[in-house]
Amino acid sequence: MRAAPLHQLSQKRDIGGVTLKLKQFETLAAVLHTEFQKGVARAKGGRQGEVYLSVDEYADVDWDKLGFRLMETDYMYIMKCCQDDEFSHGHLNRYGNIELSPSAGVLNYAQGLFEGLKAYRKVNGNGFLIFRPEENARRMQIGSDRMCMPSPSVEQFVHAVKQTVLANKRWIPPPGKGSLYVRPLLMGSGPILGLAPASEYTFLVYAAPVGNYFKEGLAPINLVIQDESYRATPGGTGAVKTIANYSPVLKAQMQAKKKGFTDVLFLDAVDNKYLEEASSCNIFIRKVDERLVSVEDLTDADEVFCTGTAVVVAPVNSITYKGQRYKYNCGEDAVSRKLYKSLTDIQMGIAEDKKGWTVEID
Ligand code: COI
Repeated sequence: MRAAPLHQLSQKRDIGGVTLKLKQFETLAAVLHTEFQKGVARAKGGRQGEVYLSVDEYADVDWDKLGFRLMETDYMYIMKCCQDDEFSHGHLNRYGNIELSPSAGVLNYAQGLFEGLKAYRKVNGNGFLIFRPEENARRMQIGSDRMCMPSPSVEQFVHAVKQTVLANKRWIPPPGKGSLYVRPLLMGSGPILGLAPASEYTFLVYAAPVGNYFKEGLAPINLVIQDESYRATPGGTGAVKTIANYSPVLKAQMQAKKKGFTDVLFLDAVDNKYLEEASSCNIFIRKVDERLVSVEDLTDADEVFCTGTAVVVAPVNSITYKGQRYKYNCGEDAVSRKLYKSLTDIQMGIAEDKKGWTVEID
């Protein structure tokens, strides 16, 4: 790995034959400067207190072995604000642990939201594409209203995502090998003992290179229906992406995995018969009709597939309900395969984006 220490960086713009564009140079120099001021800089393969910046195009990763696991990257974005105030100044920091009071709102009362979106390396030419970041920003705003938190504006959210992607661009997999999964978090970071909104909020964005979500890769998955616990209840928080919606799923997920299933499919909490979603993604069944989909519809569906940012589009091979296994079309002619290709072609810049869904950065 080629690397240049800070003092060289601030004098030179051409390091080891790689010329940094002025914009990138300024961003990175600012990051390193901030770190020095705050005294949080860590030596990386060099003397204590000396910050090294890799100028390699790619991080040292076996891109063929990517799964959906955390790989620590270089930088994260942080922005803080007080209750009843607005977010104003964010900055990039070296990726690392953050300090929280033991009584932080997020730790004690799960006052937090997360988002997920992906950045791809463009297939044809330089630059990177992110997919509909404004929609993630808007969803975070809706969630923050439900969770009584201030939220970054759409512009602040998108800016933070772009900064995080560019600062970690050497971790964006080569085209066709995966993507950089970007994880924005909004949390009540201020201390609070009685149940109330926290006094301070932290918006943080980190990123990690990922491949396929399920260990099956692109192979069809096998689901099992769970009708004893629920993802969403009337009046609850199922409609927003609060962090507390996810860990209650773990028990059912672990039990299903022990029995060899890929994931769990949940039913609605009121009638216990309409399909809601899987642990980590949405569910679609192909039948031409627009209405609530009940478990009975699964008996004669042509095709079933899951969708989500992390999962993309995953064909479902079978769903097991009350011990009965239903099988679906996952062949080359399956709609899910066409959808997967159309979507990822747009996300990677292979197909024309006629809807204006992608945002180009470089
Ligand atoms: C998503 O893809 O929307 C997710 O929330 C995935 C996450 C549970 C890993």
